[in-house]
Amino acid sequence: MAKILVTGGCGYIGSHTIVDLVENGYEVICADDLSQSSTQRLDGIEAITGVRVKNYQVNLADKAATAIIFHENPDIAGIIHFAAFMSVPESVQQPLRYFENNLNSLINVLYYAQEFGVKHFVFSSSCSVYGQPDKLPVTEQTPRKEAESPYARTKQIGEDFIRDFVVANPEHQATLLRYFNPIGAHPSAQLGEYATFKPNNLAPLITDTALGKRESLNVYGSDYPTKDGSCVRDYIHVSDIGHAHTLAIKRLLAGNATEAVEVFNLGSGEGSTVVEVIEAFEQSTGVKLKWQFAPRRPGDVVAVYADRTKATQELGWEPQYNLHDMMQTAWKWALRLSNELGGR
Ligand SMILES: NC(=O)c1ccc[n+]([C@@H]2O[C@H](COP(=O)([O-])OP(=O)(O)OC[C@H]3O[C@@H](n4cnc5c(N)ncnc54)[C@H](O)[C@@H]3O)[C@@H](O)[C@H]2O)c1
Repeated sequence: MAKILVTGGCGYIGSHTIVDLVENGYEVICADDLSQSSTQRLDGIEAITGVRVKNYQVNLADKAATAIIFHENPDIAGIIHFAAFMSVPESVQQPLRYFENNLNSLINVLYYAQEFGVKHFVFSSSCSVYGQPDKLPVTEQTPRKEAESPYARTKQIGEDFIRDFVVANPEHQATLLRYFNPIGAHPSAQLGEYATFKPNNLAPLITDTALGKRESLNVYGSDYPTKDGSCVRDYIHVSDIGHAHTLAIKRLLAGNATEAVEVFNLGSGEGSTVVEVIEAFEQSTGVKLKWQFAPRRPGDVVAVYADRTKATQELGWEPQYNLHDMMQTAWKWALRLSNELGGR
């Protein structure tokens, strides 16, 4: 049973990934300072898997504090690094806070990976590294464009840091996973997204509107060159994203990676407009949503969706959930969060 360190494991994607790792026989330790999450996620993981995962409540941007995790666990076989701040608008207002947190935590984790000889590293990257691509769908060969936000810049720089690190340390290998739009919740409703920490993500906006916590939902842009005028994104269920991490770490541990740094797009391969997502929510839950078009938001790209051929062929990754499942699970979770967990 290989021991995997999951940083940011109390977060939205990290917690779903831990469930998948545990279900596939990995031993997991978590490092999360709980700045954007809570121990409810550890409860949720335990309710699903029966395993209480140990969390080091450590700010990974603090080098000395990060050392403790490695000293106490010299047998870590691989690292999956999720820990980061991830709000685009917040990063525009507070770029230094984003640079400090996202880049220092990455540097510190890589530093101890080197010190302790942890050779396998998986990094949470994002489709935001592509900016607005010239050609769709986006393959891993699609050139990265100028970052549209400080957040996206931390992902581009993070990828570059990792490449330089691996060149200097050829016994190390890394996988960069570029997520498109993770959405939905664990089907058990034990884990999901917290609206408080993600006020700009579509699913919490939809479910908060459906719960009456918001009067109505704004769809930004009605005149984009898309089928209904709203933006196109590639939504992918968070449990499918989680499983891709298990496949990625397994490939590294088995020595099957073919390059020192491999890159995979994690998207469904299909673009959906915001209006289509709203319709899928209404059809799959039977709940009518109050929404209206609003002016375009600066910085939004028109359309982006993935070509996932590489992840499917090389990782053996086949997403299991469709858009309706994404909406149903998000709704089931939102109801439980609101009724039982005090609506974080
Ligand atoms: N959710 C998305 O839409 C999306 C899309 C693409 C990429 N990503 C990336 O995936 C990763 C996880 O995203 P998420 O949606 O689960 O976010 P999240 O905020 O739910 O999870 C991140 C976790 O990291 C922790 N954290 C942040 N800084 C830390 C630090 N310095 N030390 C220790 N813990 C720290 C937070 O407390 C939180 O629990 C992030 O790197 C994010 O940039 C997310």
